[in-house]
Amino acid sequence: MIGVGERPKRMKQPQESDPAVAVQGSSPERIELRGVTHLFGNKKRSAPALVGVDLTIEPGEFVCLVGPSGCGKTTLLKLIAGYFEPTLGEVLVNDVRVKNPGADRGMVFQQPTLFPWLTVRGNVEIGPRMGGLARSKLKALSNRYLELVGLADVADQRPYELSGGMQQRCAIARALANDPAIVLMDEPFGALDALTRERLQQELKEIWRATGKSIVFVTHSVEEAVFLGSRVVVMSPSPGRIVCDEPVRLPSMNGSGQDARLLPEFTALRARISLMIGREKTSSPSSNSAPDAPRKQGADQT
Ligand SMILES: Nc1ncnc2c1ncn2[C@@H]1O[C@H](COP(=O)(O)OP(=O)(O)OP(=O)(O)O)[C@@H](O)[C@H]1O
Ligand SMILES: [Mg+2]
Repeated sequence: MIGVGERPKRMKQPQESDPAVAVQGSSPERIELRGVTHLFGNKKRSAPALVGVDLTIEPGEFVCLVGPSGCGKTTLLKLIAGYFEPTLGEVLVNDVRVKNPGADRGMVFQQPTLFPWLTVRGNVEIGPRMGGLARSKLKALSNRYLELVGLADVADQRPYELSGGMQQRCAIARALANDPAIVLMDEPFGALDALTRERLQQELKEIWRATGKSIVFVTHSVEEAVFLGSRVVVMSPSPGRIVCDEPVRLPSMNGSGQDARLLPEFTALRARISLMIGREKTSSPSSNSAPDAPRKQGADQT
C-alpha cells in the first residue's frame, strides 16, 4: 500500500489506442462568466463573495486561479459547476447558460468527497456506470485511471483505509474517469506531500496535453500556478474581483521537455504575480485581518 510521503507509482498517460480511453473523447468547451456577482446570506444580511467577474476560458485552456483565502475561488468553481446560479450576471458553457451540474463538468473538491460504502474502484466507476457504460468496458476504464493515479494496488479497499493523499488521488481518478470536457479542481494537491504533489503536477500537465480538456485549477501556490497553467488569473482579497490575467508562455509549454521551473522566464513571471498579490493584499481594506491558515506557508503562497 502507498502511504503519504511515499512516491506513488508513475501515473501513466492515457494512450489513444487504449480501449478504455477510446470509448471516451469529450470535446473541450468554452466557459464564460459575464458580470458575475455572487452574494451569500439572506435579504436582511448578505455579503458579496464575488463582484463583477468577467472571465472567458477558451476550449483547452488550463487556467490557474490564485488569490487569498476567502476571495471566492471555490465560489467561482461552484458557479461553473452549476451548484448554484450567480446573484447577478451569468455563467455560460458553449453559449448555454449554466443552471445545474452536468456530466460535461467534473469537480475535484478541496476535501476529497468519496462514497465511503464503495471501494476505490467503485468510486472511480460510479459516474460511467450511472452513465450506462457497458459492464465489459467499466473494468478496463477503472483500471486505466487507477493506474494513472497509482492506486491499482488498492482498488478493492474502502476510502477510510486510504491516506488523505490517496483519497485525493482517487477523487482525481473519479473525476477524470467521467471524461468531463471541463475539469474543475479546487486545491486538489493541497493535502499532498511535496514529492507526491510534484509528481501529480507533472502528470496532470501531461494529461492536459494529451486530452486538451479545459481545466480550471485553484491553488494557493504561485509556483504551482505558473508551472501548470497556460494562464494564471489572480483574484483580489474578498470580495473577489479579477485583478490580473497573465498568459504563461514558457519554452516547456511547447513540449521541449525542460523543467519549466528552472527557467529565468518562470522565475520572473512567478515574481511578478507574487508582487501583484502582495500589492492587492496591502491595498485591501481587510489587509489587517488575521493571518491565513497554517497550510499557507512560504513566500510563494497566497
Ligand atoms: N455556503 C456559503 N454560505 C455563506 N457564505 C459562504 C458560503 N460559501 C462561501 N461563503 C463565503 O464566501 C466567501 C468566499 O468563499 P470561498 O470558499 O469561495 O473562498 P476561497 O477563495 O475558496 O477561500 P479558500 O482559499 O480559503 O478556500 C467567504 O467569505 C465565505 O465565507
Ligand atoms: Mg476554497
